[in-house]
Amino acid sequence: MKDPIKRYTITAALPYTNGPVHIGHLAGVYVPADIYARYQRLQGKDIVFVCGSDEHGVPITIKAKKEGITPQQVVDKYHAIIKQSFEDFGISFDNYSRTSAEIHHKTASHFFENLYNDNKFIEEVTEQFYDEAAGQFLADRFIVGTCPKCGFEESYGDQCENCGTSHNATDLINPKSAITGAIPTLKETKHWFLPLDQYEAWLKEWIIKGHKKDWKTNVYGQCKSWIDDGLRPRAVTRDLDWGIPVPVKGAEGKVLYVWFDAPIGYISATKEWAIREGKDWRPYWRDESTKLLHFIGKDNIVFHCIIFPAMLKADGRYILPDNVPANEFLNLEGNKISTSKNWAVWLHEYLKEFPNQQDVLRYVLTANAPETKDNDFTWSDFQARNNNELVAVFGNFINRVVVLTEKYYQGVVPKPGSLSEVDLQVLKELRAYPAVISSSIERYRFREAQMELMNVARLGNKYLADEEPWKTIKTDEERTKTVMYVALQIASALAVLSEPFLPFTSDKLKVILNIGKGKTALKWSHVASKKGLLPSGHTIGKGELLFSKIEDEQIQQQLDKLQASKKANEVMNATVTPQKETIQFDDFTKLDMRVGTILEAEKMPKAKKLLVLKVDTGIDVRTIVSGIAESFSPEEIIGKKVTVLVNLAPRALRGVDSEGMILMTETPEGKLVFVNPDSDSVVNGATIN
Ligand code: 2FM
Ligand code: ZN
Repeated sequence: MKDPIKRYTITAALPYTNGPVHIGHLAGVYVPADIYARYQRLQGKDIVFVCGSDEHGVPITIKAKKEGITPQQVVDKYHAIIKQSFEDFGISFDNYSRTSAEIHHKTASHFFENLYNDNKFIEEVTEQFYDEAAGQFLADRFIVGTCPKCGFEESYGDQCENCGTSHNATDLINPKSAITGAIPTLKETKHWFLPLDQYEAWLKEWIIKGHKKDWKTNVYGQCKSWIDDGLRPRAVTRDLDWGIPVPVKGAEGKVLYVWFDAPIGYISATKEWAIREGKDWRPYWRDESTKLLHFIGKDNIVFHCIIFPAMLKADGRYILPDNVPANEFLNLEGNKISTSKNWAVWLHEYLKEFPNQQDVLRYVLTANAPETKDNDFTWSDFQARNNNELVAVFGNFINRVVVLTEKYYQGVVPKPGSLSEVDLQVLKELRAYPAVISSSIERYRFREAQMELMNVARLGNKYLADEEPWKTIKTDEERTKTVMYVALQIASALAVLSEPFLPFTSDKLKVILNIGKGKTALKWSHVASKKGLLPSGHTIGKGELLFSKIEDEQIQQQLDKLQASKKANEVMNATVTPQKETIQFDDFTKLDMRVGTILEAEKMPKAKKLLVLKVDTGIDVRTIVSGIAESFSPEEIIGKKVTVLVNLAPRALRGVDSEGMILMTETPEGKLVFVNPDSDSVVNGATIN
């Protein structure tokens, strides 16, 4: 049967340009999308793989306010970092665009205008939250409150990051302005709504009846629950000054909702690419024989499965996604990845700290991909997978084959003798791998696919270990030639099959084996053919190590870096005690504080926290009982200069009269610290005022 799919439009979620890209984004969206796109390209399919920066929306304006720069400066900065890091990481977009591009503004405006002219929107004046102090409406992330669905107290106006629900800001319980913290008022304003309720029956038919079997359970489940809850009209415009102006009369000062314009970004990116390539963008979005796929994270499901399809349907000229293979989330060392808490592994930093090791990260993220549940990235797993799998299995096999071929045959593929049962079996197994890996990739099971790729290397290692060419070379030259010929076929199969997963390694291996690129390159289908991949007489290139061991120090450095982030956060989040009631100067002068020296210190029997001190206050030597025993040993504080409140009324603590108080403060971790004079030259009894 002829393949009815003529082309593929593959999209990867447009990253928000309010920060760089981290491993969570990579594992959830960009690595799987890239594997899929590279795989289809290798099959010779007509594909376009697009992405771009999502440069509108409230998070950008919040970031700009925080950094004291303009939203445009924010997006310019992060767009450049993100674009470069994707490129350096080998994400093979055909086009990486941005939503501030003119072509996108035009495309999104026209999209809105078409629906507007076709009466697809409801125009309504409703009451929206307004911050009187800030003098602005509070759209989306400008407002926080309790999620009506899960009770999470920090839900945003448009979406709850805890349960993923998307709602209207006015649904929030106890709403607060994210700008001033004020309780907002309600103010009337006009907006345009997409009446999702009118698409409910159609969505039911399309998703629930139509796609049930091949969409991932997590995706299907979220869609079903949304539809079952009943759909309501959604505002697609906002009162904001950053975004694409609403292109109709009476909408001055309003912009398109970021989630209205962002997915249209996929279309604009395709147009931009088509212009550059001299192609027509339309079939990629309007021809039924095109397979449209959206690679996203789970927090984007509703927008790609309900809202964007409803927009495309409302227009009527577009195809709908064939699949939306959304992933769950990746955690880092047991905690949720967080941009604001700097709990992340940033791609641009990884690329600097692990130069030329893009494939290691790609490999680990795929091996651990959060395909069906949230998963955890740990640096020790990263090291183990590199050292025990890439180095010890893949790299080791290639290295043995190349070294032996050079040593025995000066790099020329030998002519095989007659093939044994084992050889035939191994070659048969090898020929089956392309179909096995393809089947996993086509079902979006990238972990499984990559595991099968590694099984090819395992097959090679086992074959060499069983056949021992390093032994037979002394006894049976013919047999050795056959074994090395078979091993070289496995090595070249690895060069081809690894391309979608480990593109840098695949390229290196092609050079090592001297397999051409471009038209002369070996194809996926060649691996399955009986003809063989590397003919005898072919000369391979120079050997080079594919992977290198990652040492403990490199891992420790990364762990230290995370620890430093944690500390910095604790300091930032340490709760500051509110200021006490104002006092008069006279009140202050009543306090008699002096410089003193601790002369003696001993533990108070049966009291975990208390030390009994003898302190020279300059006035006298007195006893002070201090609650510092958990932070200091008696020995370490003897001789310490401290600040003493000397005129505090004496009080008895566990039967000992304490005549004063030593001033202390506390670190965020709860360790006590002396408030002591910053100079050794002050003398006991000096007053503090
Ligand atoms: O969640 C996000 O990072 C969004 N910027 C994704 C947008 S995807 C799209 F529709 F453009
Ligand atoms: Zn929630």
